[in-house]
Amino acid sequence: MKKKYKLLLNTKFTKKISSLAIYSPAVAEIVDGNVDIILVGDSLGTTLYGMRNTQSVSLSMMKAHGKAVIKNIKKSFTMIDMPYNTYKNKNQALRNAQDLLRYTKAKMIKLEINEKKLEIVKHLSKNNINVVAHLGVTPQDYKDFSKIKIKGKNQNEINILKNLAVNCEISGAKAILLECITEKAAKKITSTVSIPSIGIGASKNCDGQILVFDDLINLKIGKKKPKFVKKFLDFEKLLKNAVKKFSQEVREKKFPSKKYSYH
Ligand code: KIV
Repeated sequence: MKKKYKLLLNTKFTKKISSLAIYSPAVAEIVDGNVDIILVGDSLGTTLYGMRNTQSVSLSMMKAHGKAVIKNIKKSFTMIDMPYNTYKNKNQALRNAQDLLRYTKAKMIKLEINEKKLEIVKHLSKNNINVVAHLGVTPQDYKDFSKIKIKGKNQNEINILKNLAVNCEISGAKAILLECITEKAAKKITSTVSIPSIGIGASKNCDGQILVFDDLINLKIGKKKPKFVKKFLDFEKLLKNAVKKFSQEVREKKFPSKKYSYH
C-alpha cells in the first residue's frame, strides 16, 4: 500500500483490507475475525430474497438482518447499507442512518454516492456518522442489472470518478467502495485519496477487496456470475451431494438409524 497513513476508524492498515458482505448470524460466526470488515449489504435483496434489483429492499429488512448479524460479530469492523430511497435528502438520511446504526450497532454506514449526494455525506459525517461512499457502478440506480456497464473506460470517466472520490473524502467519508471500474481508474483514485479504497470488480489497485459471501462459496445457484467473482469453494456441489445422500438414506430406510432416535 503506497500511503501507509491510510486509516479506518483509527486503525492503520499496513496490509490489504479484506471484507465480505453477509446476511445471517451463522455466517457471521464463521466470518468474524477472519476478515477486517463485515458488510450487511443490500445485495440481500437479490441474493437472498430473489428480487430483480435492490430497489425493493427496505429499511426494516436491513434493520432485521443487520441486528441478527452484528450481534454475532466480536472482532471485525461492521458496516451496513442504507437501502434505496432512504437517503433522498440530508435530513431523511440522518434520521434513517441514526435509526439503522442505533438498532443494529453497526460501526459504519455505506451509501451509493453521486455528485448530488455529497451534501448527504457531509451532513452525516458532521453528525459523527462513519460514512463509506460507494462509487463507480451503483446498483441502486439499476432496475435491470444486465444494463450495468463498467465505469472508468476513458480519461474523462476516470477524472469524473477521481473527482467524486476526492469530494467524498473532503465531505468526510471514512472510506470509499469502488464497484466495477477499470484497473486504471482504481489506480488513479487509490493513489489520490488518503482514505482506504475497497474494491469489488475494481482490480487489485485498491487498498482492499470485498465480495459477497454467497458468491465466494458459489451459493448463487443457477445465476451467471460477474467476471470479478472467484469461486473459493463449490458449496453448491457439496450441498447437492448432501441433499441427495439424505434423500437416498430416507428412501433406503437408513435414516434415522437408532443413533438418531429417542429411546
Ligand atoms: O450490497 C452489497 O453486497 C454491496 C457489495 C459492494 C458488496 O454493496
